[in-house]
Amino acid sequence: MGAVYDRAAAAAAQLRPLLPASHTVGVALGSGLGGFADLLTDPRSVPFADLPDFPVSTVPGHRGRFVFGSLSGRFLAVLQGRVHLYEGYSVEDVVLPVRVLGLLGVPTLLLTNAAGGIAPGLDPGTLMLLTDHIASFVPSPLRGPNEEAFGPRFPDMTQVYAPALREQALSAARELGIDLRPGVYLQTPGPAYETPAEVRLYRTLGADAVGMSTACEAVAARHMGLAVCGISCITNRAAGLGAGPLSHAEVQSAAQRSAQAFHRLLRALIARL
Ligand code: HPA
Repeated sequence: MGAVYDRAAAAAAQLRPLLPASHTVGVALGSGLGGFADLLTDPRSVPFADLPDFPVSTVPGHRGRFVFGSLSGRFLAVLQGRVHLYEGYSVEDVVLPVRVLGLLGVPTLLLTNAAGGIAPGLDPGTLMLLTDHIASFVPSPLRGPNEEAFGPRFPDMTQVYAPALREQALSAARELGIDLRPGVYLQTPGPAYETPAEVRLYRTLGADAVGMSTACEAVAARHMGLAVCGISCITNRAAGLGAGPLSHAEVQSAAQRSAQAFHRLLRALIARL
């Protein structure tokens, strides 16, 4: 086994005693959305810094820890905060927490993020259900020697976001009266927000929303055979489409304003899994 496998396996071995034998749902929380982990009952948290050779988040609004606990009758393994390519971490570091969830046998992963809306109607406060993604602007987490224990050399990515999970998310949203719009997410390396010309380019490529995470994590998760669902919290119109400049503070506060709808949707979706 290679070094990446060994790092994931060492962390999984440390965390395994905290998981029950029953079905565990994985959840990764994006910028400003970390409060969802506070809803868990009997939470046990493990900071990334307490795990061997683990990347530690440097971004305000991203705590960087695993939180285990129950919600809606399910046991959850939550990534509260993530690390990003723009922090200088390698893509292998960025997807390490997701691979640990895979080695822990988590079958389903809900990936969430804050994103800029490109498509008409994707205004701040809207939630977007990922139907697909564009990962062509970021390095692949699968580069280098293939780790057969994770998955095949050339994995299929025709349906990254599981149709059955998408249906469940849409039906949960309908029941709650939450506007959940299907769309394609494009990941950039960040950390600069896009230029208006880049946003126009991404639109012509088929992107509905843009952000700095998620797609590479989804690729690593699909490589390991996890069923993935992705939800973006649209925090702003992408550069050039709204009024004024973009800021991380605005993104965080907009995500927090959407937190209630986001929490209700996630809770209802988890109850259906
Ligand atoms: N661009 C990239 N990442 C983002 C944005 C954006 O407009 N909003 C929130 N995360």
